Amino acid sequence: MKKTVRRLMVTCMVLGMAAMALGGCSSSKKKVIGVSLPTQDLARTQKDQEYLTKYLTEMGYEVNVQFGKGDANIQASSIENMITSGVAGLIISPFDSSSMTKVIELAHENNIPVISYDSLCLNTEYIDYYSADDLEGIGACQAQYIVDHLGVAEGKGPFNIEIVAGDPADNNATYFYKGAMDVLSPYLEDGSLVVPSGQIEFAVCGTPEWDGSKAQSRMDSILSTYYTDKRVDAVLTQNDGIALGAISSLKSVGYGSSDMPLPITTGQDCDIASIKSILAGEQTMTVFKDISVLAKNAADVIDSLVKGEEPKLENYTTFNNGVKDVKATLVIPKALDKDNCDELLFDSGYYSKDMLK
Ligand code: BGC
Repeated sequence: MKKTVRRLMVTCMVLGMAAMALGGCSSSKKKVIGVSLPTQDLARTQKDQEYLTKYLTEMGYEVNVQFGKGDANIQASSIENMITSGVAGLIISPFDSSSMTKVIELAHENNIPVISYDSLCLNTEYIDYYSADDLEGIGACQAQYIVDHLGVAEGKGPFNIEIVAGDPADNNATYFYKGAMDVLSPYLEDGSLVVPSGQIEFAVCGTPEWDGSKAQSRMDSILSTYYTDKRVDAVLTQNDGIALGAISSLKSVGYGSSDMPLPITTGQDCDIASIKSILAGEQTMTVFKDISVLAKNAADVIDSLVKGEEPKLENYTTFNNGVKDVKATLVIPKALDKDNCDELLFDSGYYSKDMLK
């Protein structure tokens, strides 16, 4: 494979030079940055595409964005194609954190710097930088919102809570869960928060592929098995897609009326569907992660690496990817509910109100 790629790259160069010699129109001289996003199905990945394209274009690059279509193999082969086409650098947000090792090795063999974006590529020694969110901070933000709004720290309770966590194959989900459990554990221990299903461990609360319909089915079975004689007061749902899945389940058994209000539900990403749900009084909160900052951090780092320079990071932490510590810049999350939605999303120009139509 290595030889094939090299041969193809050489062929491309020869053809390019021949085209220039013939005076024909050569392709742009701009260097190309390849961006690989896990799926196109999330509102957030459209923002990732928009901001990464904006900053990299402003820096003088051409940008090639490819989507993994929610499949690790499709993602790996589209990255392989970008390597073959001679990109100068790669920004990868893996669909499955453990499945990028081989393709990143191929990039390394072709002297193409690679950085992780949003989710860390695991088990590779060829990644040094990661543009990330404060992952544990996101989980903590969701859990703290529940604690504050139920009033458990002031001695109210006991309250019933269920946990609908993210995809166990996504490295981020482990951190979201840990951040949330650090906040919830004292209240679970003193009994002011109770999980009637008993499903607390990450392995049993995870939602494969972050699939809202899987979250919905799991919630259906929790409600019909453990809530025949009680009400759920809060559901820690770890992103917007699974929050909407859980809310559909809750509504199907009568929650959402004046005598049976919906429980507190949490999310992240500020998906438009969830913003509409928050404004309609259904989903309670989401976490705002400013993708423009995430994208700018990534663009700055890949630009330095392509130029052969050491990226200048003002503040960074590290995440271990299984074989090494990777330097990460973090975006700080903010809780968003109906009270600060206008200020964070619309007054700031992050979204336009037309998107709500
Ligand atoms: C991202 C979240 C997203 C989830 C599902 C996570 O890795 O950090 O923003 O909701 O994947 O795509």
